[in-house]
Amino acid sequence: DTGKSGYDHYMLKEIHEQPRALRQCLSGRVDERRGEVTLSELEGLETPSAVHLVACGTSYHAALYGVQLFHSLGIPAQAFLASEYATGVPPLGDSLVVGITQSGETADTLSALREARARGARTLAVTNVVGSTAARECDYALYIRAGPEIGVAATKTFSSQLVSLNLLVEYLAGDQRSSEERRAVLQTLRDLPGRVQQVLDESMAEEVAAEYLGADGYFFIGRGLNYPVALEGALKFKEITYEHAEGFAAGELKHGTLALVTENTPVFAVVTGEDAPAKKTLGNVREVESRGAPVIAVTDDDQIERYADASLRVPSGSARVAPVLVNVQLQLVAYWVANALGRSIDKPRNLAKSVTVE
Ligand code: AGP
Repeated sequence: DTGKSGYDHYMLKEIHEQPRALRQCLSGRVDERRGEVTLSELEGLETPSAVHLVACGTSYHAALYGVQLFHSLGIPAQAFLASEYATGVPPLGDSLVVGITQSGETADTLSALREARARGARTLAVTNVVGSTAARECDYALYIRAGPEIGVAATKTFSSQLVSLNLLVEYLAGDQRSSEERRAVLQTLRDLPGRVQQVLDESMAEEVAAEYLGADGYFFIGRGLNYPVALEGALKFKEITYEHAEGFAAGELKHGTLALVTENTPVFAVVTGEDAPAKKTLGNVREVESRGAPVIAVTDDDQIERYADASLRVPSGSARVAPVLVNVQLQLVAYWVANALGRSIDKPRNLAKSVTVE
């Protein structure tokens, strides 16, 4: 199939398209020397006093990441599963309601946005599809520009959502950020496609996948900005391997699920940076190791590799974009496990690319 450009599956092709997708997302929008973000499609959108982010599945994980970026600006933000939001809309105040949806056609997300609009909220769609229903119905649309995604599993579009949320937050930051701070963030974004390429070129995910086939279950843990990617790592894994996997905030595992941890449940521990959150996650790594679980560190730090049975490396640098790099490794692990098990990777059973029923 020429559409796969020589890759066995669209998913693998789309994983490898990420550097290009991210360059497209940034193109013409970022002036890192002047510290400016231009998003012409958002002209007139004022900095909101509060934000609700609504989404499903992978896009919901992007929303959880976005919440933390808004918090870094001092803007109260909450992420909601769109199906729950539409069922009982929380008090809106004058929140901006942001719907994150790759397809722009997900019924639950459209309903949530419609409910918010009916209550007078301003709405913004963060979407990949120009002219999609979400883009048409919302007051504003921010396009993530990832290009078409054929695989049912969202891969490059998740990375593009994370980068788009960074652009959105910097755009709305106004004078809350000094121009130096903003220049540093924009430089980090500018460097990101090259770093993603480095992860793709050097990944040991195929070897790690082979090593841990046939386990009883797989756990993914991360803290702070790495928590959404722990959830996303597990979702991708379940979706295409059909194996049991769960993602957790690193500190939460001991509040129940630790009872399931054995020598046959590998734990992927996402630990980036050397700060306090990373140290705490290391404490959680020891908890699972003492129950005999193999630990695969997904990390930018050599020190952490000492505590792990295996590791997947990402280039060190900004904590803010580390989740994008980590997630590429987790996408590849899911892909190689599914491939070894002979799964229907591009069209997993029971799933559709865009879910148009509530
Ligand atoms: C991700 O791999 C899934 N296919 C799924 O969770 C998806 O992200 C969800 O259905 C939301 O889709 P959307 O972004 O098009 O709204």
